[in-house]
Amino acid sequence: MPRIKIKEALELQPTPNINVKGWVRAFRSNRFIALNDGSYIHSIQIVLEDEKIPEEIVRKISIGAALSVKGALVESLGKGQKVEVLAEEIEVLGEANPEEVQKTILQPKKHSLEKLREQAHLRFRTNLFGAVFRIRHAMAFAIHNYFNKNGFYYLHTPIITGSDAEGAGEMFKVTNLPLENIPFNEEGKVDYSKDFFGKETNLTVSGQLEAELGAMALGQVYTFGPTFRAENSNTSRHLAEFWMIEPEVAFADLNDDMALSEDFMKYLIRYALENCKDDLAFLMQRELNEDKQKPKAQRNEMNLIERLEFIVTNDFERISYTEAIELLQRSKPYKKNKFKFPVEWGVDLASEHERFLVEKQFKKPVIIYDYPKEIKAFYMRNNDDGKTVAAMDVLFPGIGEIIGGSQREERLDVLKEKIKDFNIEEEHVWWYLDTRKFGTAPHAGFGLGFERLIMFVTGMTNIRDVIPFPRTPKNAEF
Ligand code: 4AD
Ligand code: MG
Repeated sequence: MPRIKIKEALELQPTPNINVKGWVRAFRSNRFIALNDGSYIHSIQIVLEDEKIPEEIVRKISIGAALSVKGALVESLGKGQKVEVLAEEIEVLGEANPEEVQKTILQPKKHSLEKLREQAHLRFRTNLFGAVFRIRHAMAFAIHNYFNKNGFYYLHTPIITGSDAEGAGEMFKVTNLPLENIPFNEEGKVDYSKDFFGKETNLTVSGQLEAELGAMALGQVYTFGPTFRAENSNTSRHLAEFWMIEPEVAFADLNDDMALSEDFMKYLIRYALENCKDDLAFLMQRELNEDKQKPKAQRNEMNLIERLEFIVTNDFERISYTEAIELLQRSKPYKKNKFKFPVEWGVDLASEHERFLVEKQFKKPVIIYDYPKEIKAFYMRNNDDGKTVAAMDVLFPGIGEIIGGSQREERLDVLKEKIKDFNIEEEHVWWYLDTRKFGTAPHAGFGLGFERLIMFVTGMTNIRDVIPFPRTPKNAEF
């Protein structure tokens, strides 16, 4: 009898012989087992009829154990499920010592998210993380779907690079030089010529520069890979290792880029609404329960599903950076000195400003474009005003910046100037400059932080809870 997934079993009509396998979530009265195999947010109920299953087997059944159950799928008399399994035969594939289970988050009671994080190897077994990681999978799939449908090619850009794409200098070094005996050159500097690659290398902060090379031949490409940033920011929105999606499009300008980002986000969120209904319903209910414990002012104005539907049905607001500064300077919190960080033209927007614009001013996603050139990366295209670049950030409610992108500087002479201004050595990016020599063309792209997307879709408020094994300062367990 082949095993069937619990999700499929729960959708079947009664049938005399089925086999399900999974882990025990609950075991009541030595009679009712809730069995879950990860295929579904719901577990299947297994009923042990009197003395059908030998006592020595029943004794081994406890929370956390892995079972194979054969029996009849019958209509359930109990509430909460249409069908259940009357067990004919149970094989205990793996026991779980109840005393040890007591000390873990497998114990079915409410555990804090912090505690769940400390046991990230076990938290997949909870309904909450089952839902989060099924949705994470669905979103990855939807991303590839979207680009494939729209004629983009998936380009694998390197994880080890010799360049600092964002120019922020927050990189993890890759080396196999002996750290206890580092070779130095005559100038007293580390002699990277003796290193594995014969030069200084790092983990990538972005696949963009290489994606641009691909776009300048394949037309439309995207990357989707791990990204590493050694910024020491211990916030609920930053990871040292996160996943980023970076489309890059030839013959596109900033308006095309903004339109693509909006269409893309709406597609992904619509996909979640259509394909992750049960998990979203669970997450919505969980959030409603959490909100009940909170003071009114801290509760969500819309529930999770309403927030997702809102994105799909409303246009994103588009304002320039200059307009954003003016709006902020006219705002109540500014006049009442409530902002911690300064608001003036030329200064980067802080998270508190972004959230004010999105959550209070417009109450919808906002795209801010045309930022001062000094606060953005070297590759962004200079605008004619001499002060701003064709950059854009997409800001989401509850998240802040979810996407950062720009039209790229395609003019060789201007790009060379910019590289000089940013103190980048031309010899390090000669290959990047070459695309501007041989058939340069306008092009644009952006980067979506995958975990920030998952935060928005699941309603989870800490980025550590939407990636299986988070890497943050002083934390690389598992
Ligand atoms: O704005 P960023 O730094 O843009 C780039 O890296 C460009 N090269 C993208 C491009 O144009 N191709 O990062 C893009 C997005 C951010 O908007 C944010 O969602 C996410 O990546 N991100 C992070 N997510 C988690 N942890 C971090 N430390 C992140 N840093 C950026
Ligand atoms: Mg950014």
